[in-house]
Amino acid sequence: IITKAFVQGLPKAELHLHIEGTLEPELKLRLAQKNGVDIGQNTIEEVRASYQYDDLASFLAVYYPAMQVLRTEEDFYELAMAYIDKAVENSVRHAEIFFDPQAHMSRGVSFSTVINGLYQAIIDGRAKHVDAQLIMCFLRDWSRLSAYETWQASLPYRDRIIGIGLDSDEHNNPPLKFYPQFVEAEQQGLYLTAHADIDQKDSISHIRELIEVIGVSRIDHGTNIVEDMDLVEYAAKHHIGFTTCPLSNTFVRPDMKGKEVLTLLEHGVKVSPHSDDPAYFGGYISDNYYALATQYNLTQEQVVQLAKNSFAVAWISEKQKAIYM
Ligand code: ADE
Ligand code: ZN
Repeated sequence: IITKAFVQGLPKAELHLHIEGTLEPELKLRLAQKNGVDIGQNTIEEVRASYQYDDLASFLAVYYPAMQVLRTEEDFYELAMAYIDKAVENSVRHAEIFFDPQAHMSRGVSFSTVINGLYQAIIDGRAKHVDAQLIMCFLRDWSRLSAYETWQASLPYRDRIIGIGLDSDEHNNPPLKFYPQFVEAEQQGLYLTAHADIDQKDSISHIRELIEVIGVSRIDHGTNIVEDMDLVEYAAKHHIGFTTCPLSNTFVRPDMKGKEVLTLLEHGVKVSPHSDDPAYFGGYISDNYYALATQYNLTQEQVVQLAKNSFAVAWISEKQKAIYM
């Protein structure tokens, strides 16, 4: 039987976490007050009551306005440092953390404010034995030009970013929309990932584009790949990682996609559970492992395999992997 203590103590890598999605109600209210931002709620209960969503669009409609409370370098530092403490509690040894610069720059917060705050927390996190990196995500429902401008703004901070990703609304925004950006990022030595969401329209064709054309090393969610078993075999052979988010799935679809996870495990695909937006979806990484393990009766061996998978597809050296695994 899998216990909460067992999954909590299991060393793991967090590879699918939006830092803006770790903004807990308490910090949100405190920053709103400090920065004089009216978020429409004044108590924790009111904030929690506003968390009503049943699909990606309704979630994003709550998620983006909340970010307005983040204004200064210190705010971003505090946000990321609170996450580092959660990482410690959850035995996360290595974290690759998404951030959405466009969501901040569009409301007048500079790229440097965002990255300086986040990066300082990463430096200070090393003393707590959490090794963290940043993945810059482009909002895929925004223009290619906006992504390009964001890329340009990031260039002075190139050594603080390990990879790029795509998030936000996938509907009618295929990965190939950003093909030139992926090519340029790869040329500069960055790793590539992208969301290819479970029940989005065209999910399997987006997964094909990512694997066959763009050549990503991971896909965020992406469990719909089970619709094409040839592609599953290819993903297994080439060690492509799939970062599934059990608790966030339950908000936007009927189940945690556990059956798909089991199929991927059976075929040797490197799938692992992660948190997505833990302040909004009810739990950090151990909660996600635990929910998946109990709902689908996973064996201890399978749970350990999931954690090993997370290190196997992390963007770290083989030497580092050997230490963690
Ligand atoms: N941005 C933050 N969380 C997201 C999610 N679950 N899907 C797409 N974009 C996101
Ligand atoms: Zn996500």
